[in-house]
Amino acid sequence: MSDTTTVDPDALFAEILLTPEGKADPYPRYAAIREHAPAFRSATGVVVLSRFEDCQFLLRDPRFGKGERGAVWEQYELTEDEWMERFESFATSNTSMLGLDPPDHTRLRKLVSKAFTPRTVERLRPEIVRITDELLDRFDLTAPVDVVADLALQVPMAVIGEMLGVPEADRVALQPLIRAAVATLEFNPPLDVLEAAAVAARAITARFEELIAERRAQPTDDLLSELVHVEEEGDQLTHDELLSTVILIYGAGFETTTNLIGNGLLALLEHPDQLQRLRGDRSLLRNAVDELLRWDSPVQLDGRQAFEAIDLHGLEIAAGEELVTMLGSANRDPRVFDDPDRLDVGREGSAPLSFGSGIHYCLGASLARAEGQVVFDRLLDRFSTIEPAWGDEPPRYRDSIVLRGLESLPVVFARD
Ligand code: HEM
Repeated sequence: MSDTTTVDPDALFAEILLTPEGKADPYPRYAAIREHAPAFRSATGVVVLSRFEDCQFLLRDPRFGKGERGAVWEQYELTEDEWMERFESFATSNTSMLGLDPPDHTRLRKLVSKAFTPRTVERLRPEIVRITDELLDRFDLTAPVDVVADLALQVPMAVIGEMLGVPEADRVALQPLIRAAVATLEFNPPLDVLEAAAVAARAITARFEELIAERRAQPTDDLLSELVHVEEEGDQLTHDELLSTVILIYGAGFETTTNLIGNGLLALLEHPDQLQRLRGDRSLLRNAVDELLRWDSPVQLDGRQAFEAIDLHGLEIAAGEELVTMLGSANRDPRVFDDPDRLDVGREGSAPLSFGSGIHYCLGASLARAEGQVVFDRLLDRFSTIEPAWGDEPPRYRDSIVLRGLESLPVVFARD
C-alpha cells in the first residue's frame, strides 16, 4: 500500500479496483481515503465518497438518482451506432427498478414488494431450513467441502428459484449466465466482459420468455405467475418491465447472498473466538449476520448521479456528475462503529450500509438476512467442528469489486 502520510486517494482507489493486493484487502486503503480525502474526483471521472454519513446522504437525498446513462460508448472508443449494434439488449435493460428513478421505480417496486416483506419472509423460514438441511446432508465429511460451491451458492439459488418458480434444471444452466451478466455492474467493465455479458443476457432473456409463456398458459402459485397476471391486467407492467423485473430478482437473489455466506464464514473462521461465542449463544444470530455484512460487505460500491450542483467537503459537484459510495469503507467508519476493525458478533447499534439506503434499499434484505441466519444456525447445530482447510494461502476473492466474494472456501466439518 502507498505511504499514508502522503495519501494519494486516486492511487489508492486504483489499487482497490485494479491490483490483486488492493482487491484482496481494500480495508486499509479505504481507511486512508476516508480519513484524508472524504470526497475526491477520481481520474476515472467519478466523485468518490467513503464516510458513512456521506454515503447514506447520497443514497437518500432526492437530488441524486440513477439518471440517464451518458454516452458510455465514448469510454470504449465506439460510436453510438456501433454500441447499439453490439449491446442492444443492454440499451433496453434499464427498465428494471434498480436502474430507474421515480415514478417508474416506485410503480415497479410496489408490484413486488409484498413478496419480500419481513412477514412474508418469516413464513419462508421453514423452507429455508429444509433447503439448507438437504444440502448439509450431502456434505462429504471425509474431505474438505467447498462451502462457496456446495452451500453458499446453492441455498439462495434454491430459495429464489422456488419463490419465482424457476425449475431446478434451469437453475444450474442459468447460474454461469447470471454471473456473466452481473459483471456489467462492475466499475468500468472492459469490452470483452460486456460482450460476454450481452451473450449471456440474450440466453437468460430467451429462457425467461419461455417460462413466462408457460405461466401464461398455465399459472401456478409462484411469484412469476403473479407478475404475469399483473402484466396481463393492463397498464401496470409492460412486457419488458416484467422480464427485467424477474431477471433482476432472480440474479440479485443469489449473486449477493452467496457472498454473505462465503465471506461471513471466512470471517468467523478467521476469528474462532467469535465463532465459539455464536455457537454458545444463538440469540446473537441476528446481530452476528449484520456484523458479518458490515465486516466484509457482499456489495462494496454503489453510486448515484447528481441531478443538481452541490458542494461536498468543499468539492463542487456539477449536475450530471457520477458519484460512487464505497459501502465497504462506510461500514468501517469509526464515526459510526466503535473499534470498527474488530469483529464482534454481538455488536449493536447502526445497521451497516451493505443493503444500500433510501428508495433503492435492497428489496431482498429480509430474505438475505433470514438465509444467513438459517445457514449459520444450521451449520453450528449440525457440526461440532468447523475448521479451515486451507494452508498458507488464504482463500482468494473473485476478480470483482462491486460484488465481493470468494472463489472457493475449503472447510472441514465434523460431528461428535
Ligand atoms: C446479502 C445479500 C444482499 C446484498 C448485500 C444486497 C445489496 C443490495 C444493494 C446495496 C442494493 C441497492 C442498490 C442501489 O442502491 O442502487 C440492492 C438492491 C436490490 N436488491 Fe439486494 N442485496 C442482497 C440480497 C438480495 C436478495 C436476496 C434479493 C431478492 C430476492 C435482492 C434484490 C434486490 C433488488 C430487487 C434491488 C433493487 C431495489 C430497488 O432498486 O429499489 N437483493 N441490494
